Amino acid sequence: MYGGRRRRIEVLEWALIDGAREGFMPDQAHGPRQREVLSNPRGVAARVAEAFREAAQRGVEARDHFHVALAGGSTPRLAYSLMGDLQQIPWDRVQLFVGDERAVPLNHDDSNYRMIRETLLAKVEDLVGHVHPINPHHESLDRVSAQYQETLGDILGPGCVFDLLMLGLGEDGSTASLFPGRPEATAEDRYVVPVAASAQNRARVSVSAAAIKAAREVWVIATGSHKADVVRQLLEDDPDPREMPAAHILGCRGEVRFFLDQAAASKLRPEQVAS
Ligand code: 6PG
Repeated sequence: MYGGRRRRIEVLEWALIDGAREGFMPDQAHGPRQREVLSNPRGVAARVAEAFREAAQRGVEARDHFHVALAGGSTPRLAYSLMGDLQQIPWDRVQLFVGDERAVPLNHDDSNYRMIRETLLAKVEDLVGHVHPINPHHESLDRVSAQYQETLGDILGPGCVFDLLMLGLGEDGSTASLFPGRPEATAEDRYVVPVAASAQNRARVSVSAAAIKAAREVWVIATGSHKADVVRQLLEDDPDPREMPAAHILGCRGEVRFFLDQAAASKLRPEQVAS
């Protein structure tokens, strides 16, 4: 499948986090929770690419489409490049979105779309016409957010259910562009939110907590020892999404999968490997 002499996978199922929290833990049943720990970032990228092929084939077989939003940042670069190399992915039935975007031109070094274009789109002709970037550079972020939500509604339908929402994890507990302590990080009346600039981050547009919770599947990709603390907090401390927006992921009504390398998983309690 993807070789590697020292590949080690722990496939773990773990009990859902119990206990409702006012407004953050919907009473709907959750899908399964799974985490896979691979030896290193390359092993994570190869596993994500393979899992993407499996999920796309499964999704197209079940629903004749695969609506996926890709994560930004630097972690998923190699996985997207490997996805572009794989055969038997039904790209012609895929609609590709971005989970968040910085308020820069799409050819800017900091643009998530540019990263996705360079790693994946450059390799996959069948995606032409199926890719929906967030283009925040020309208009107000409120307007751009509203337009993107309209696009999502046209393609995904009113419930904005992504078949797969891929997310990264910031060391500060952020995900997509939902940052701790920011009002838009807990907005659940919309699926796309404008995010004003702060001292730490430039202005952005992002999927909201509501979109994260509505997704059929959410994948979180985190590698490196610098993510070990936030991974442990997210998976073991049942954090409040107002302090750690990535905690909205645990409120997802669909399936949640974590793809970690050993360094990012290094502070997690040892678990029995699922049978
Ligand atoms: C962004 C991302 C953001 C990212 C995490 C992890 O636009 O910055 O969407 O949510 O996924 O912050 O970033 P790295 O992968 O660079 O560590």
